[in-house]
Formats: sequence, C-alpha cells, structure tokens
Amino acid sequence: MKIGIWSAKVAPKSEALICLFQFEEDKSPAWGLLADRFHGEIQKILGLEQFKGKEGKSVLIHTGGGRILVAGLGKRSAFDLEKWRQAAARAARRSREMKAKELLLIPADHAVLADTENALLALGEAVSLALYRYDRYLKDEEASELAAAYLVTSHRLGRREAELASKAQVLAEAVNAARTLINEPASTMTPEDLARAAQSLTPGVEVMVHDEKWIQRMKMGGVMGVARGSHRPPRFIELRYKPRTKSPKGPIALIGKGITFDSGGLSLKPAKSMETMKSDMSGAAAVIGTFRVLKELKPEVEVRGYIAATENMPGGNAYKPGDVLVTMSGKTIEVNNTDAEGRLTLADVLYHAAQAKPKAMIDLATLTGACVVALGERIAGLFGNDEKLIQGLSASSNRTGDKLWAMPMEDDYKDLLKSDIADMKNAGERYAGSITAALFLKEFVGSVPWAHIDIAGPAFTEKELPYCPKGGTGFGVRLLVDYLLHV
Ligand code: BES
Ligand code: MN
Ligand code: ZN
Repeated sequence: MKIGIWSAKVAPKSEALICLFQFEEDKSPAWGLLADRFHGEIQKILGLEQFKGKEGKSVLIHTGGGRILVAGLGKRSAFDLEKWRQAAARAARRSREMKAKELLLIPADHAVLADTENALLALGEAVSLALYRYDRYLKDEEASELAAAYLVTSHRLGRREAELASKAQVLAEAVNAARTLINEPASTMTPEDLARAAQSLTPGVEVMVHDEKWIQRMKMGGVMGVARGSHRPPRFIELRYKPRTKSPKGPIALIGKGITFDSGGLSLKPAKSMETMKSDMSGAAAVIGTFRVLKELKPEVEVRGYIAATENMPGGNAYKPGDVLVTMSGKTIEVNNTDAEGRLTLADVLYHAAQAKPKAMIDLATLTGACVVALGERIAGLFGNDEKLIQGLSASSNRTGDKLWAMPMEDDYKDLLKSDIADMKNAGERYAGSITAALFLKEFVGSVPWAHIDIAGPAFTEKELPYCPKGGTGFGVRLLVDYLLHV
C-alpha cells in the first residue's frame, strides 16, 4: 500500500475517507488544509453527537465532498507517539470496513507540536501495519480495499515529508514481511524455506546459505545437536550489507534465533504450549525484515546477519537429555533439557559472529517462557554486557514502540548452570529462567559488546492488538532499523 503526502493539487476521490483529529482540551478538530466550507456543518454535527475528543471515540460525517471521520485523541498530557499509531490504526481499520479507496490523515499542527518526524513516521507506518492480513490460505477473503494513505501536513517541512512517508511505507512493509514469515506454517517455513526467504526478501544484500556439511565442518555442535532430531537439514544463513559511504561505521552483527518449529525435542512440550511454536523463528524474521530495508534506508553502518535455522524435533536420532555437546567454542554442554534448544544454537552463532570482531552484536530470540512470565506479552527483556549499547537500544525502543525493559545479569545465578560432567548445563531452574538463559549466552560472546533481546512475549500475539492482527507481530524490525539509523 502506498503511503504518501497529500498535496493540495490532488483532489481526494469521493471514495476517500478524510480523518481529522481532536484532543479533549480542544473545542474543534484541527482542520489542517481541509477546505473551509465544511467547518460549520461538521462543528454542528460534533455538537449534536456530543463529541469531546475522547480517546478511541469518533464520529463519521457524510458531506457532499466525501466522508469525514473525526477521531478523538484523548488528553494532550497523556499523548505520545504510540497514541498516534493507535489513532491512525483505528482510522485505517475503519476505512477498510467502509471500503474506502483512499485514506487522508490530517494531523494538522498536532504532529508538529512535539516530535514531527517521528510522529509522521508513526502515523504512516501504523496505517499499513494495521491493515496487514495473513490471508494466503483464506481463499474467500476479499482483497484489502485501501490503495493509498496520505498524510496531509503543512508544507513547513517540504521534501522531508515525502521522504518520511516513503520511509514509513518501506518500514511497515518489512515488518509485514517478517509477520508473514512467522505466520507461515512450520511445514512450509522449514530451515531451507527460511534460507530461501532470506535471499529473496533482501535486495541489495549479500546472502550466503551454508548447508549441514558446512555446519559440521565448523564444529557447531550446538546447532548439530538440536538439528539431529529432524529429517530436515539445518541451514546457516549469513547476510551482509555494506553502505556506499567511504568510512562506514560498524560492523554491527544481528543474530536471530531461527528454530522453525520447537516441539521441545524429547523433553516434549505439552500440546497447548506447542501450538504456536512455528513462531520460534521470530528473531530470524526480525533480522531478515531489517535487512530488507537497508538498501533503501541506507544507514551508514556495515551490518552482518547470522541465523542458524533448524527444527527442534524428537526424531529417532534426536539428541537426548544427558548428552554432552561440544560447541564451536570448545565449551561443553550437558543437555538436561532438550527444550532449552535456542541457547544451544545461539551459542555457536554468537561465537562465530564474535570471531569477526564486530563493534557490537545484538541477538533477538524467542528464548524463554520465563521472560513472558516476567514482562508479559508486550515487552521484551533486554540483557547485555555493554551499557552504551543497552542505552542506545532503549532509546530506539522509546521511538519505535517496540517495548524493551532492561533486565539484570546477576552473575551469582551462574551457579544454576553448573554441571557435574561438563562446563555447563543448558537449563537452569524455574526461577530466573530468562536471566540464566542470558548468562548462558554471555559465555559465548567474549569481549564483544553484546545485547540479547528475549522476545518470547511480544513476537507473537494471540489477541488482536491496536496495529497488529493475531499472529506474528514483526517485533524488532522497527527497533533494529531505528538503532542502525542512529549509531
Ligand atoms: N521457544 C521456547 C520459549 C518460548 C516459550 C517462546 C513461550 C515463546 C513462548 C524455548 O525454546 C523454550 O522452550 N524454553 C524453555 C526453557 C527451559 C526448558 C529452561 C522454557 O521457557 O520453558
Ligand atoms: Mn524450546
Ligand atoms: Zn525454542
């Protein structure tokens, strides 16, 4: 879907929906560039409807020139970028319900008040994110009606506005691509499929796919151990983006957990917990989604991506509780639970990525149910060994609405991973499960500044969210892109 800037030269089609916004403190919506002739009429209807600008409330008005939606934004004092996204998402969904062909959002000077650029970006991306649907297997589904959404702004910002609209479009499209990778059933998003997707979805990026023999040669015992229980061979995916800039920053390494299905292995999950485990490659999807926009958005930093893609299955050759795996680093791991598979694969990926001495490494992983218990389904856990990296990611989180919360790396808890027969075991106890998982990963990053983002909660939603339907959320794409554009 096209996201653009509306210029007064183009008259909106009569099938368009025009959306105005109003704060509770204001007596009328911000009119922006809307023609004067409807003011009186609209104001009268808003009065009759007793419209007060309450958040989530709206009034639809039919005029001779087209349909106008006046949407409440709530209190100015409680307003932020996330509220813009939610308001735009409501308008977008409404426009789909009424089969509008175009949506014109008129934030007027509201957007200019606080943080113009991010506000326009938020508005633009939210429309496209809200209208996303995974409809590959819904043969009767009607195609999405809305062809384009326009942001109508004062012309103070000039050409920068057009850039922002196109950035919003590109970003939302990448988030939606990540969502589709996650939503695709595991039997049609196998390690090989994921590797193919990494190639086809990332124009302008160098992608290398290594097979199981390469993984074996590299002595990636963690990846091989997890992969043994599946008939499908694992893949190791490397991506590389080089900016055209003379002296680029970085490199920054992005690592995504790529378990295309997590049955738990022989430590089998109960049926209910397994239902959504096609989403265990959401970290990989976020990394691929991020690489999808780099050629277009051109951050001046070299970026490397690393994904070990494998299933975690309980086949006849599966790794067993009690086995000892020798990881690429040489560290040995006693497997006390085959369902703690993500960290085994990430151990090798992080070690391999660290050998290239990047400036920083960031991994995204649907790693622990414990993190969901700690922070719920909307917030990811942020761990790491470098304060500046954690600060930078937190700033990106605040701008993008991909929510993070910094968690402690309590070294005392390392004892929970002590093994009698190997350097470590892979699973700790029930308590502090997300922290012991992070401590496990830390053993493989050496001295490289590193952050680990546990996205087990926000990667997938079983409830509809303001700008995301049920299913994969694409969490992390906007976060990572924002971070790369600000390093
Ligand atoms: N993929 C799961 C974590 C997960 C749980 C993601 C819920 C999304 C929603 C991971 O591989 C796992 O099974 N972790 C175990 C670790 C335990 C055995 C130490 C867990 O959280 O139970
Ligand atoms: Mn698991
Ligand atoms: Zn898993």
